[in-house]
Amino acid sequence: MADKARIAVFISGRGSNMAALLYASQLPDSPYEVVLVAANDPEAQGLELAAAEGVPTFALSHKGLGRAEHDAAMEQAARDAGADYIALAGYMRILTERFVENWQGRMLNIHPSLLPKYPGLDTHQRAIDAGDRHGGVSVHLVTSELDAGEVLGQIRVKIRDGETPGSLAERVRFAEHQLYPRVLGDYVRRESDPSYLLDKIRELALALPQTHERESHGTPGWRAGSEKSGKYFAYFSDRHHGSDYTALLVKTSGMDELLDLVEAQPQTYFKPAYYGASGWIGLILNRPELDWEHVGEWLERSWRSVAPKSATKLMNVADEF
Ligand code: GRF
Repeated sequence: MADKARIAVFISGRGSNMAALLYASQLPDSPYEVVLVAANDPEAQGLELAAAEGVPTFALSHKGLGRAEHDAAMEQAARDAGADYIALAGYMRILTERFVENWQGRMLNIHPSLLPKYPGLDTHQRAIDAGDRHGGVSVHLVTSELDAGEVLGQIRVKIRDGETPGSLAERVRFAEHQLYPRVLGDYVRRESDPSYLLDKIRELALALPQTHERESHGTPGWRAGSEKSGKYFAYFSDRHHGSDYTALLVKTSGMDELLDLVEAQPQTYFKPAYYGASGWIGLILNRPELDWEHVGEWLERSWRSVAPKSATKLMNVADEF
């Protein structure tokens, strides 16, 4: 697989979930590594543990700083560490919309309830008061609404007779430490999972007008136009001819553009075997910083270059709205 995904973990206190992520990352097959532990409290206990394990740390108190200013500094620390993802683990701060937007799909959080139940604080007390039979824990994507992003995984924890918030929290924590490393690992792994990548490409390609899928030499491909006379505008290529890449092949305007792009951005583009000779470029998909909007733009451009006029005309009209 490609390089390990780089994770910055944000904490505010004890950092037991951070420790769980960190130690799990030391298993030989971990798909991620922890490149930074950052806190909004220089006294956060977890910082010491991380430092002792040789993980870079960053601490900046939020006191006396505006929210935007503090967020920007924390975010910068994550960027400086080369983080691909941020894992919030007991980070007790409401984030600015801007910060959340910048890390859309790349920021996860762990929350001690079975979301959508009980966002916010006092989750265990609320579950007990409601007479629930289970409490639990969720790992979810972070969106600007508090604890409301897509849930990626959960574990239920039985609520016993005479349970107190403290006794429940203690058992939920065992579950947290199992859940977070697993969910984070699965989440980052899918970025290099060919079947996940193929599904995404298929969805984008077939969303363009008058397209259909047709295999070509064992490779999934998409054509614009009728079943009979359609022309290929995209192929999906998974580690063909000894290459390390899972890639989308799309049409450039010709060899000049292709070679310029490959030279200027070798992390993003390559010249594929065979297809490269006729101006098809490889857009590398198995990399953490992949931007799906960019992939969509290439698909549309390539589609436009072969699609029948009737279809592109419709698209132009749609674009005006
Ligand atoms: C955990 O219960 C987590 O679910 C919540 O904050 C707590 C953090 O604990 N978001 P720790 O700092 O990881 O020990």
